Amino acid sequence: MLDASVRAALIDRARAAARGAYAPYSGVCVGAAVLLPGGVIVGAANIENAAQNLNCCAERAAIYAAVSVHGVQRIQALAVSMLCEGEGAGHGPISPCGPCRQVMAEFMDAEAPVIVDGDGAYAVGELLPNPYRPAS
Ligand code: THU
Repeated sequence: MLDASVRAALIDRARAAARGAYAPYSGVCVGAAVLLPGGVIVGAANIENAAQNLNCCAERAAIYAAVSVHGVQRIQALAVSMLCEGEGAGHGPISPCGPCRQVMAEFMDAEAPVIVDGDGAYAVGELLPNPYRPAS
């Protein structure tokens, strides 16, 4: 179980990270934050490209930043939040895409929580049962 204050800090960081999104093509600004074993939190946002298949989701940006800067380790939890502009402004839920679920399965245990802002928490294994693993 994630401590309530840690959970709140993760969501706050995901919300703050969404402000750094580069999303001129979709206008969808997403932030994610990951919790490392020592308590360090790393946040990142989605980054788009004119060649739309190069878009990088916030979840993957946060996981890759954490792994590349802090070293490969098990990520304890992840939070994701979408920035809503205009009427009804604030933060809302966004369901992680399939590729991000596969990347979560690489660096997180199946029981690790993924907190979707304004929705709830899901275990990685619930979001992606039976992830791809190379045949040994
Ligand atoms: N996006 C994320 O960052 N995370 C998700 O879970 C789903 C979608 C981004 C990718 C793209 O930049 C924009 O949202 C619209 O699909």
